[in-house]
Amino acid sequence: MDVYGLIGNPVGHSLSPPMHEAGYEALGLDARYVTFEPPRDGAAAAVEGAADLGVAGLNVTIPFKQDVLAAVEPDSLARRIGAVNTVDFSGETPTGHNTDAVGATRALHAHDVSLSGTAVVVGAGGAGRAVAFGLADEGMEVRIANRTESKAHDLAADVPDATGHGLGSLADLLADADVLVNATSVGMEEDATPVPAEALHGDLGVLDAVYRPLETRLLRDAEAVGATTVDGAWMLLYQGVEAFERWTGRDAPVEEMNDALRSRL
Ligand code: ATR
Repeated sequence: MDVYGLIGNPVGHSLSPPMHEAGYEALGLDARYVTFEPPRDGAAAAVEGAADLGVAGLNVTIPFKQDVLAAVEPDSLARRIGAVNTVDFSGETPTGHNTDAVGATRALHAHDVSLSGTAVVVGAGGAGRAVAFGLADEGMEVRIANRTESKAHDLAADVPDATGHGLGSLADLLADADVLVNATSVGMEEDATPVPAEALHGDLGVLDAVYRPLETRLLRDAEAVGATTVDGAWMLLYQGVEAFERWTGRDAPVEEMNDALRSRL
């Protein structure tokens, strides 16, 4: 039996176990997906311990995504993002990957949103960073807008063909944009949006990384103007699908994994 898992602290609320196990079941794989909660300074020890125990793959979440980087051989995207969310133990040394970036682009792609032209990413934290690199790797011009404008400039300096802005410029930034991603936590706790409704238009593909609730105010506003909307569960799904495919070498049963995820949201 192959053992996969997730390290995080706290980790209890994760939807990854049912999502991945639905995938194993659909393909008839003899595998389990379990959660581990190492101490907050224990990222490297957890990766070493997992390798010793024969764990086949690990997902990594808060607060370990940066610390794990030093315990693995990161691929170029994970190194540039500066964070690892997927570890693969199949080689001589554990390798580190970041499937959050591709999770966002695959979620948009699956909704027929063309990844060419200009993208506006709202948020310059860990999620914004991964999304900005993912869209830039697709060849998009990326405009990063953040409440703390200096963080947008810092991130833009790392991402090819990107610029940094404050939230006050959103209407201008969006006027001729093709894609909008909310990578802030706004919309999670209250029915709020970081983007003024009047800045949205029907030619946008809009992804909200927030998945609790699924129907955020941003997505409702975007739908009202005829934009293509993609909720945060799609991004969560595709970061998992990408990890699943790396670990198992099989095409993931996306529909079954999606059903398992959505039935719990
Ligand atoms: P994550 O790893 O999920 O990206 P994070 O690193 O804490 O989490 O980043 C949170 C993001 O949400 C940041 O871009 C933050 O903006 P600041 O850099 O200015 O803090 C953004 N954010 C959080 N609350 C916000 C709010 N009320 N309005 C606008 N942006 C907010």
